[in-house]
Amino acid sequence: MNGPLVIAIDGPSAAGKGTLARRLAAHFQLPHLDTGLLYRAVGLKAEKSGRPAGEIAISLQLSDLADPDLRTDRAGQAASKVAALPEIRANLLKFQKKFASQTSGAVLDGRDIGTVICPDAPVKLFVTASSDARAERRYQELRALGLDTIKPRVLAEMAERDRRDSERAAAPLRAAPDAFLLDTSDMDADAAFAAALAFIERKGFRSSGP
Ligand code: CDP
Repeated sequence: MNGPLVIAIDGPSAAGKGTLARRLAAHFQLPHLDTGLLYRAVGLKAEKSGRPAGEIAISLQLSDLADPDLRTDRAGQAASKVAALPEIRANLLKFQKKFASQTSGAVLDGRDIGTVICPDAPVKLFVTASSDARAERRYQELRALGLDTIKPRVLAEMAERDRRDSERAAAPLRAAPDAFLLDTSDMDADAAFAAALAFIERKGFRSSGP
């Protein structure tokens, strides 16, 4: 008999984690937490207000996650800087663990979900794609948000953030040893969802919905 379905999704930026997480959450009727938003909110608020990031992380409110500026590259860069600080990670740990331990189960996506936040999750996915595919997706995403940018800049900013996320000492981006590796370079969102779903069903989990 399986316990609650907790789906831990990690991977570098613009690999398709967010879309996959939302679709799996809808399919299995689970609550979803985009943990990147927590780091984005702390980083951006610290930059805008000049207040210490540690203080902001402790008192973070759900309403802080609704700031439309959180999807910008400025917020992404600010996030990956505060995310390297062990104090910030520690301050955000309890909230994420609590979210993951709901009796319903949950879907969380980020960088350290399968390794630090939910090391016992029954389902771990590590989603990757080539740098080119990821830069193209992020570029289209930013354009769709009406943000003016050029592709070489998107590629450079992504590479800088990936390097910072992978090389930091505190919870670096790593695939958990038992994670299912999903390379979405040549997959659209439907194909990535189908591959992830097949893996989860092989583990014995089925949607209880209609
Ligand atoms: O959307 P994208 O994948 O580009 O980024 P994100 O998931 O919103 O995360 C923004 C930044 O927050 C990342 O570059 C990481 O530095 C940090 N982060 C983290 O350290 N741990 C997490 N669980 C989630 C995000």
